[in-house]
Amino acid sequence: MLNIIILAAGKGTRMKSSRPKVLHTLGGKPMIEHVIDKALRLRPQQIFLVIGHQSEVLRAHILSRYADAPIQMVLQEEQLGTAHAVGRCLPLLDAALTADPDGRLLILYGDVPLVCEHTLSAAIAHSANVVLTARLPNPQGYGRIVRQNPNSPTSFVDKIVEEKHLTDTQRAIAEINTGVLCVKNIDAQLFLDKIEQSSSGEFYLTDIVEIASRNHAAFVAQVVEVFYQFSGVNDPLQLAEMERYFQQEQVDDLLRQGVRMADPKRVDIRGSVVVGSDVFLDVGVILAGDIHLANGAQVGAYSILENVVVGERTHIHPFSHLSQCHIGADASIGPYARLRPGTKLADRVHVGNFVEVKNSVIGEGSKANHLAYVGDADIGARVNVGAGTITCNYDGVNKHRTTIEDDVFIGSDTQLVAPVTVHQGATLGAGTTLTHDAPAHTLTLSRAPQTTHPRWQRPIRKK
Ligand code: UD1
Ligand code: CA
Repeated sequence: MLNIIILAAGKGTRMKSSRPKVLHTLGGKPMIEHVIDKALRLRPQQIFLVIGHQSEVLRAHILSRYADAPIQMVLQEEQLGTAHAVGRCLPLLDAALTADPDGRLLILYGDVPLVCEHTLSAAIAHSANVVLTARLPNPQGYGRIVRQNPNSPTSFVDKIVEEKHLTDTQRAIAEINTGVLCVKNIDAQLFLDKIEQSSSGEFYLTDIVEIASRNHAAFVAQVVEVFYQFSGVNDPLQLAEMERYFQQEQVDDLLRQGVRMADPKRVDIRGSVVVGSDVFLDVGVILAGDIHLANGAQVGAYSILENVVVGERTHIHPFSHLSQCHIGADASIGPYARLRPGTKLADRVHVGNFVEVKNSVIGEGSKANHLAYVGDADIGARVNVGAGTITCNYDGVNKHRTTIEDDVFIGSDTQLVAPVTVHQGATLGAGTTLTHDAPAHTLTLSRAPQTTHPRWQRPIRKK
């Protein structure tokens, strides 16, 4: 049985932000959610999230995102150190620890977002207590790993010494504590409350390692290969660095699935992407939320897609912004198209440059190629929406729908004052302001008669 403690009570001063540190995002998702999601995948009995600074903001966020998950928030009002933080959870954990002495307690940090699930699983499966360590060219700032016998291959750890308390010899040790510990329940129960206040005034969780070692329950150091997976975020610089690592992981994954990219360094993934074969992404593409790109879909340069389904062989041309919409197969969108929430386009639809579509359904083979606003409309198949067409869907108070049936031709610069219906096969003359329904298979237009004034002269500039 596994229980997990996530420490997130710290202040995060160096972020220089009013937002709690662990709510800063990586790939569009708050750091703390990265940690919680990975923790949940390890199927723990319970997660204890230690909160302190801005605890109310954090609590509200967690409650809104994880209503049904086994997460208990524990308040640490004063941040007296990592052992003190873990100590807040112990009364709540006690019964679970006693019930299963051989179970594990895993300790993670809320600001170490890219923890590798695979490495955590290995630590949990180990027969001994485990501390995850790394060897760094510049170990400054981290707790150092002092091994029982540095010359022997044994990986048992004697103690962890915090930066502040290093001797000169210890300062040269390159192996550091990542912070992640996996402790047997029985040892957690026996040793955690033996940790004493250090000379700095803090209670160091890392002291458990020395106590365990003295009591024949030594920790094993498990060295992590990929350090960024266990490095913390303390300031915006590190956050930006981690963002690049995270993006790299995600594009690598897509490349392995067969996606082609003009430049993997210039694609950003801020959600989950499901792809078919022969998908192409040009530079500057941002994919956010849930994205489905079917076989042969292409996304042009500098296009932003949020929660979008793109059908087979559909091309999104450059500079398009698509949000919460569904696009069929063999469609052509953009350049400079804006598809807003509730847009559903059937197969072979064309939406061209400077066309905005909102909360509308457009039927098979219909086209709106230039400069149009289609809002709250139901458009049938094979309809041509001329340049400059506008659905006047808003009367200042309420929204109304426009219905355009199959095979309609709408001339350029037409305004459709909703609610209004254009019946099947109708044609609207250019410049029409349609205020009443247009009958099927007829020409409807509203246009002032054209006049010419032969004796009219251009004004002359006054001296
Ligand atoms: C800690 C480790 C150090 C390790 C380093 C890795 C200890 C004593 N030291 O040092 O060996 O190399 O992490 O980054 O554990 N927190 C609380 N309550 C507290 C104090 C901290 O919740 O009272 C949380 C923080 O929000 C943070 C985490 O615990 O997420 C680590 O605390 P921090 O103060 O950053 O520890 P370090 O000094 O970096
Ligand atoms: Ca830290």
